[in-house]
Amino acid sequence: MKKAIIASLSVACLAMGSCSGNKDNALQLNKNNIDEIVNAMTLEEKSLLLVGIGMPGMSGTETVVGETDMIIPGAAGVTNAIPRLGIPSIVLADGPAGLRIKPTRENDSKTYYCTAFPVGVCLAASWNKQLVEQTGEAIGNEVREYGCDILLAPGTNIQRNPLCGRNYEYYSEDPILSGMTAAAYIKGVQKMGVGTSIKHFALNNQETNRSYMDSRASERAKREIYYKPFEIAIKEAKPWTVMSSYNYIDGVYASQNPTLLQDVLRGEWGYKGLVMTDWFGGDNGAANIQSGNDLIMPGSDDRRAQIIEAYKKGELSDEALNASVKRTLELIVKCPTFNGYQYSNNPDLKAHAQISRNNACEGIVLLKNNDNTLPITSKSKNIALFGITSYCYNSGGIGSGDVNEAYTVDLLEGMKNAGFNLDTKLAKKYQDSVKEQTEKYDKEHAGKNDAIFAKFTPKDFAINGNEIEGYALTNELAIITLGRMSGEFADRHISEFYLKEEEKNLINQVSETFHKNNKKVVVVLNICGAMETASWRDKVDAILVPWLGGQEGGNAVADVLSGKVNPSGKLPMTFYKDYFDTPGAKNFPYDKIADAKSMFGDKAVNRDSIENYDYTIYSEDIFVGYRGLEKEGKEAAYPFGYGLSYTTFQIEDLKVERKKTKVIIKVTIKNSGDFPGKEVAQLFVTSPHAEKHPLRELLDYQKTDKLIAGQSQELTFDIDFDRLSCWDEELHSSTMDIGEYTFQVGDKKVKIKL
Ligand code: GLC
Repeated sequence: MKKAIIASLSVACLAMGSCSGNKDNALQLNKNNIDEIVNAMTLEEKSLLLVGIGMPGMSGTETVVGETDMIIPGAAGVTNAIPRLGIPSIVLADGPAGLRIKPTRENDSKTYYCTAFPVGVCLAASWNKQLVEQTGEAIGNEVREYGCDILLAPGTNIQRNPLCGRNYEYYSEDPILSGMTAAAYIKGVQKMGVGTSIKHFALNNQETNRSYMDSRASERAKREIYYKPFEIAIKEAKPWTVMSSYNYIDGVYASQNPTLLQDVLRGEWGYKGLVMTDWFGGDNGAANIQSGNDLIMPGSDDRRAQIIEAYKKGELSDEALNASVKRTLELIVKCPTFNGYQYSNNPDLKAHAQISRNNACEGIVLLKNNDNTLPITSKSKNIALFGITSYCYNSGGIGSGDVNEAYTVDLLEGMKNAGFNLDTKLAKKYQDSVKEQTEKYDKEHAGKNDAIFAKFTPKDFAINGNEIEGYALTNELAIITLGRMSGEFADRHISEFYLKEEEKNLINQVSETFHKNNKKVVVVLNICGAMETASWRDKVDAILVPWLGGQEGGNAVADVLSGKVNPSGKLPMTFYKDYFDTPGAKNFPYDKIADAKSMFGDKAVNRDSIENYDYTIYSEDIFVGYRGLEKEGKEAAYPFGYGLSYTTFQIEDLKVERKKTKVIIKVTIKNSGDFPGKEVAQLFVTSPHAEKHPLRELLDYQKTDKLIAGQSQELTFDIDFDRLSCWDEELHSSTMDIGEYTFQVGDKKVKIKL
């Protein structure tokens, strides 16, 4: 009962816009009296502040938490208020692709839809820091205007393996692209006066048994690959909070790991903000606090009891407890809620939809375009749109990273909006199947509480040869959309990497029949991550990868197919020829389907029992993705950083100049084709002592402006020497090798002795 009173008080206090609880109590929280407040708080109040109110419907043993306790229905969690001291609840909400709250509320005619922006991997594929920052600003605006304080994003874990269920939410296999994208995103969101929570720190690179599995990697792999994106983003963008990950790291829970959270994060990187657990992460509130994990979310009474008991026994120090309380108060006083911001509940969703569409376009990667199949110049052409995903388009992924948007533009609608004529008979065939499959699914799952956040994706089906013959006669072009979906709580099974039987048949039949009639075939990959392409790409004329492009996805693909936008995306990860070309392929649960029931996993008797389930060894060490593939001398189907344009670009000039503690690299890029477009300058470095390094590593990148035919642009990179260092496991520090360095952009290289 006590909790409920505090909870309802916190709601009441929030309603007052700031929190002045007990009127005659002079001491009320403000930005300048935090130490005083800490000293005035009781142990009970401190434990209350450091443990969230809880998840709707789930009991904190004393109270069952309801939607209204979330203050903003659909928010992921809130902190407890301490009205006596003027401390309000603050609201924490997901997610990386846009604010995730309930779109409707009981007894409220207003709606609360949010914009579904391109998912993380699509943003990374744009290789455009300014665009990512702009996306962050728009999302941050919706967080603020719908009354939330902290956005639980960005997801920044390395895509170590193509089958990790949450790769769609993350950015890349490369730590530099991941870190710089995250930094841009955080800057954008926090410009709006709300906070972020860079997550999941660290080594959360699989969903299978995520709450109990033990990630085991070398110190060098941690420093140069898995910690690196967080280090870059934290130093550059100062996220208000960090979310620790579920998993163990070398046998210690990340959320109870002083080496990770005190020594590295705060000691070495100088992070001053708050650390929170992932939801239900860890198993001991006192160990969380003692290790520097300040806030326990969503929280429960037993976590609070652990704090109080440990403190009374002297197992939780005053210093650690008060440090966490102080950091939590320092966070609260920054938040819109504390500062009484009068949110509108009316963000400019129309303007944000346009931003979502533009940014989705820039994330689209053109993998193949034989004989200038694309763009489709003539609108008079009839188009046969195959693939059920064309009609049930994937705007986002599964789980807390998904958005409750008002609509999704599928590819049929997008192509129609662009003025194309689509074969209506074929469209009806697919639309009828979507309807029938969806109704069947809904009937079978009515009232069942199956996989949490489950998302139904209809299955493709075979079309008989005569029918396809008919479509080939009456249409000028075929487009086939293939879909791949994934998300939180489960990794993808290895079968997801390859074409399904019905997809193989569709590609074979359509390409054979349309080519026989001198018609072309375009494949659109509406996917959550890398998949196999080598076995079928020669059968088609063009391949486009729009990823999960948000609510305007269908319009964005049509913008590129029609030539309104020249594609400038580049792969943020390797498209391997075969799954087993993935470095460390066998050290991943590729054949263990983890589903929602194992969301909380099985607490292993000991963490050495089942490989890739209770523990995962990062056997590839620093050689993740292209770093490993190139070291092994293997070829990708499409390599990291690859992407075509409707025009061509030349690297006109590349030069390097040594300064005292850095090098300055200048590169000039020219649009040598006929179509205006943007190009990405990807700066790679090859270090001396090649035996211990990858053949090349991404160092930085910049995207040009839109260059017209014949136009050039010079880009400058300012590279401090410490960015050329690597981790020395003997010295336990980073060191810079002396010798000859090679810098490369495109096909140009320059060397310099450093
Ligand atoms: C989830 C996710 C995390 C999310 C949080 C709140 O389990 O791991 O990314 O922000 O819980 O929904």
